[in-house]
Amino acid sequence: MKRVLITGAARGIGLATARAFAAAGWSVISLDKEFGGEVIGQRVDFDLRRTEEISALVAGIGTVDALVNNAAVLYCDPADRIPEEHAREILAVNLQAPGALIGAVAPGMTERGGGRIVNVSSVAAFTGHPDLWYGVSKAGLLNMTKFWARVLGPKRVLVNAVAPGPTKTRMYDQLPQSRRDEVMRVVYSGRVCEPEEVAQAILWLGSACPEYVNGTTLDVNNGSYPR
Ligand SMILES: NC(=O)c1ccc[n+]([C@@H]2O[C@H](COP(=O)([O-])OP(=O)(O)OC[C@H]3O[C@@H](n4cnc5c(N)ncnc54)[C@H](O)[C@@H]3O)[C@@H](O)[C@H]2O)c1
Repeated sequence: MKRVLITGAARGIGLATARAFAAAGWSVISLDKEFGGEVIGQRVDFDLRRTEEISALVAGIGTVDALVNNAAVLYCDPADRIPEEHAREILAVNLQAPGALIGAVAPGMTERGGGRIVNVSSVAAFTGHPDLWYGVSKAGLLNMTKFWARVLGPKRVLVNAVAPGPTKTRMYDQLPQSRRDEVMRVVYSGRVCEPEEVAQAILWLGSACPEYVNGTTLDVNNGSYPR
């Protein structure tokens, strides 16, 4: 049975993705720093701020056929008062940890002749997002996607990204109402995305998409950022 490692799998898009992979017959390894309720598959309690421990963690997990870099944090801070520790946490969890995880799973994938990696970015990557370091981290993740696709493509490891728009999760709930209203004015069907819809896009990139789909970003935004 193929094994997928999903970060931030305790809730939201990560939990929906864990359910989708499990329903498709995968063995799921769910990683998070705090589990509240449902856990799909093998549970790994780990705080991704501990980036320097990631390679040892992955060595202990064993074979990983697919990796979903989904965990992230967002803080809505005023532009002139962004706490240093928020910037540090965002860059560690949203950017450095995915990089360390890719670096840690890549040798095993290339040895076995293939693998798939899906990075969960955001429309925030394109918009000049009001939460500075969140937007920077999501834009950086797209460059990381292309970098690793170039490096690992010859070894049949695919590295792609999804860029969701507003999705019904706790992260979306923390946005100020004015920003949620703004988004709702532009999305084509006047509703937020269900986490399951993003999960299906991740599942496709992580399992069934053609090998020629590599280094790309799949928008799941329904008009919230046409490009
Ligand atoms: N919800 C949206 O509107 C939206 C839009 C675009 C992109 N995204 C992206 O989707 C992904 C999932 O977000 P979500 O909306 O499900 O958010 P969420 O806040 O519901 O879930 C995030 C998960 O990441 C985990 N996490 C956070 N910090 C961690 C750490 N240090 N170590 C381990 N786990 C940690 C949390 O515990 C949580 O389970 C994120 O990458 C987010 O940036 C979300």
